[in-house]
Amino acid sequence: MSGTNERWASRIGLILAVAGNAVGLGNFLRFPAQAINNGGGAFIIPYLVSLVVMGIPLLWVEWAIGRHGGQYGHHSTPGMLDVLGKSRVLKYFGVFGIFTNLVVAAYYSYIESWTLAYTFFSLFDVFNGMNQQEVIQYFKSYLGTGDGFFNFSPVALFFFVVTLGLNLWILSRGISAGIEKASKILMPLLILFGIFLAIRALTLEAGESGAVEDAIAGLNFLWTPQFDSLANPKVWLAAAGQVFFTLSVGMGSIHCYAAYLRKNDDVALNAASAGFMNEFVEVVLGGSIVIPIAVAYLGLASLSAFSGFGMSFMTLPMLFENWGPFLSALGGLAWFGLLFFAGITSSIAMGQPVMAFLQDSFKFTRQKSTVLFGFAVFLLALPTILLYDHGAFDEYD
Ligand code: PHE
Repeated sequence: MSGTNERWASRIGLILAVAGNAVGLGNFLRFPAQAINNGGGAFIIPYLVSLVVMGIPLLWVEWAIGRHGGQYGHHSTPGMLDVLGKSRVLKYFGVFGIFTNLVVAAYYSYIESWTLAYTFFSLFDVFNGMNQQEVIQYFKSYLGTGDGFFNFSPVALFFFVVTLGLNLWILSRGISAGIEKASKILMPLLILFGIFLAIRALTLEAGESGAVEDAIAGLNFLWTPQFDSLANPKVWLAAAGQVFFTLSVGMGSIHCYAAYLRKNDDVALNAASAGFMNEFVEVVLGGSIVIPIAVAYLGLASLSAFSGFGMSFMTLPMLFENWGPFLSALGGLAWFGLLFFAGITSSIAMGQPVMAFLQDSFKFTRQKSTVLFGFAVFLLALPTILLYDHGAFDEYD
């Protein structure tokens, strides 16, 4: 069956699916790193201004183009742009809305597979008793680094195949039974895990559970506005870049989800609701976990060497250990589980435009499109897995 007649089944499902599209690894790994590298409180005002003047309006534009295209049976950008105006070249620009998603999906789902692996590692308490050096070493050997040319680790490959399989399984079930259903289960869990971690983080006080500083110091760093930064174009660029990435705009993914709306479905309110849900998760939850925990244990100075991956995979698992056997396993489970849920509801959003293109343009069945998409992602991801320590991953990034 071609997917042309598919529709979202409910309004709440639609909003959770689009919020799941937007809420991703960017909210928890990229946002804190961008905020810190651009001066904390210096970053927030340009970020919020970019959100209001660019992000939300662009969401509306993309939803509207998507809904319009969907009425003509187009669910990916080439067809949508074709029915938008008289110009024949427009549709070729739409190709970016396929290609970009495919390439980003390849490297994004690889990171996503690390979070799945780390969820299991936390569950089995493997970081118990490890010091910082050992946790770093663990991460490196998980990814496979060594003296050979291909230094991949079979475990990382295994988790990648499982992650890709889960993505394909959801995509193969279609819009309402696949993407919508997954989002309805995973998004509430994600928010629950996030609230648990944020409360735990913000209540850390100096002297308690090994903390050296009050976690609130981390929040102050992020939320004390620094107006002089407003004159710095670099901060504006970083803020606008983060807004684009986190809202998933400019990639054809939002267009695709909006193409499964009905003709009279509302665009203005639905788009804004999903957008604001993303911002809650990014600014409130994303800003209240890693930064306050890092500051509580390692002091404000530690932020100067902050990197999203480093902190999340190589430092947090060790810091959680201070919470005692039960809470540390729960902390790791919540953190990596939340990252995995955020990741998978975004990677399927990169997959769907590609699937829709195959279904609409070549009349492939959903099953056949799923297999082709899976094959393409696997091949594109192989360099990042096999050649990780030759910089292939950074190249994709
Ligand atoms: N918005 C997602 C994130 O924050 C990334 C994404 C980009 C998802 C484009 C889909 C399309 O991680």
